[in-house]
Amino acid sequence: MANSMKGIILAGGSATRLRPLTKVTSKQLLPVYDKPMVYYPIETLRQGGIEEMLIISSPEGIGDYLKLLGSGKDLGVRFTYEIQDKPEGLAQAFLIGENFIGDDSVTLILGDNIFEDDFSDAIKSFESGGRIFAKAVSDPERFGIVEFDDNNNVISIEEKPANPKSNYCIPGLYLYDNTVIEKAKQVKPSERGELEITSLHNMYLAEGNLDVRFVEGAWFDAGTFESLWEAGSYMRKKAVQE
Ligand code: TTP
Repeated sequence: MANSMKGIILAGGSATRLRPLTKVTSKQLLPVYDKPMVYYPIETLRQGGIEEMLIISSPEGIGDYLKLLGSGKDLGVRFTYEIQDKPEGLAQAFLIGENFIGDDSVTLILGDNIFEDDFSDAIKSFESGGRIFAKAVSDPERFGIVEFDDNNNVISIEEKPANPKSNYCIPGLYLYDNTVIEKAKQVKPSERGELEITSLHNMYLAEGNLDVRFVEGAWFDAGTFESLWEAGSYMRKKAVQE
């Protein structure tokens, strides 16, 4: 039997761009229309059939997540909690989550990423390697960027390039097989002192095991005033139309 898929929600970070909103509150608990932000990534994982989820947040933030989410029984999922002492990069999630992941595969979602799409197919059909997503954006220098050839094969992946080779960024939803733990242990801190998720993607790419799909629906990285407002306003519009 194939190993099962676990989920990690990364909800730490410094959230400097949202101060003073985030001076006493964790970014991923701020309201996006009628729910705390973190409900959206939780729902994305739940929709994909993931029942066991690890919430990672800062020492200051973690207690609020426990208070808000508890065991997960109400949502039909099971939450585990871990602390990230310092925001030392996205790839650190797999070091902190090593025991939680065990022998399984894992989907990482960033706690401030809100997706409209249903990723059930991409998650349920996952077998091995790494599977990431691409979405065209107008400000590619802010993100990890993927370059494709004419047949949509990945040529390169670069973190926040000054001269982006494409405008396809990699949003905060990533699926990996169990080798991600060993790969994360090999990642060296970048110039900005972080364990970059881009380094993991380059390892999967070098092995020929990186699959990239496209995000069709809306996607928000709600880390700025503008995107936070847009996400809330989009969700409100959808709710009113329904
Ligand atoms: P970012 O938006 O890159 O960083 P940030 O949240 O610290 O914000 P700012 O740039 O305004 O200071 O992080 C993306 C997401 O990942 C966000 O949900 C926070 C989370 N994160 C962690 O939990 N731990 C980390 O070490 C990093 C780098 C980010």
